[in-house]
Amino acid sequence: MEKIQNKYKVLVNEKLSPQYWRMVFDAPDLAGEVNPGQFVHIRTDDQGLQPFFRRPFSVYRAQKYVEIFYDAIGPGTRLLSLKKKGDIIDVLGPLGTPFALPPASTKQVVLIAGGIGIAPMLILSDVLKKKKYDLVLLFGGRDRGHVYPMKEFKDNGVKVHIATDDGSVGIKGRVSVLFDKINKDPSSTFIYTCGPNPMMKAVQVFAVQHHIPGQAACEEIMACALGACLGCSIETKHGFKTVCYDGPAFDLDEVKFH
Ligand SMILES: Cc1cc2nc3c(=O)[nH]c(=O)nc-3n(C[C@H](O)[C@H](O)[C@H](O)COP(=O)(O)OP(=O)(O)OC[C@H]3O[C@@H](n4cnc5c(N)ncnc54)[C@H](O)[C@@H]3O)c2cc1C
Ligand code: FES
Repeated sequence: MEKIQNKYKVLVNEKLSPQYWRMVFDAPDLAGEVNPGQFVHIRTDDQGLQPFFRRPFSVYRAQKYVEIFYDAIGPGTRLLSLKKKGDIIDVLGPLGTPFALPPASTKQVVLIAGGIGIAPMLILSDVLKKKKYDLVLLFGGRDRGHVYPMKEFKDNGVKVHIATDDGSVGIKGRVSVLFDKINKDPSSTFIYTCGPNPMMKAVQVFAVQHHIPGQAACEEIMACALGACLGCSIETKHGFKTVCYDGPAFDLDEVKFH
């Protein structure tokens, strides 16, 4: 898989909800190289040195263009949100180990996402829909502002179930209140999850209890994003591994979530 560093034109940078933004950039060379679960490393400041490091974002979609879906929570992401159509951004990618495909016996694929952890799931559903799985999304958000409209998932044939902490959309409670929506047969079910660590830990406990295999897309603060500085190491059953190079996708039962 070739890594590309290039400057691309921003085609769309829109606020989708009070919380979330979607950026589309014209990157035909990159689009063809990305697999679900991989990320891009973006220079958010093209004028000075603040922030000094690039910022990592899951690829949300890679079709004709490359898309990211992001939460403007700090200096880097706020700078990104100021980009206008026609601006140029410096992007390095695709980076990291993508999601593994489900085993041949799989019939039901369950995507379990919390908040911005939805980002790598759309590109995954774009790929998995071609394999005719029964696709289910269990999504947990804090409140209405954290629930991104689910049209794209529904267009991909995904059955969507939502839970919010305050009950403003879907069922009130954490995403775990949705676990009874799925078929728990371990031989035909496969889980992918991405979100805050406590949520992924709950998913891991559920999956282990029902012997359901799966993968988790992990996040950690990054510097190099190339496996060199070890700054993004996390603990796994097989010792410390880097999220940027060994991950972001790991076997769900492998990660020690803290
Ligand atoms: C592989 C990967 C994929 C990611 N994909 C997305 C995505 O698709 N959309 C999205 O909005 N964000 C994503 N992130 C997180 C995103 O990179 C950070 O939110 C961003 O770097 C924050 O930069 P900032 O300068 O705006 O804020 P900062 O000031 O750098 O951070 C703001 C706050 O977020 C915390 N933070 C920063 N990075 C992370 C992280 N990686 N994990 C947990 N907490 C963090 C900081 O500790 C701080 O409290 C991803 C991170 C990784 C590692
Ligand atoms: S960020 Fe440097 S090794 Fe992952």
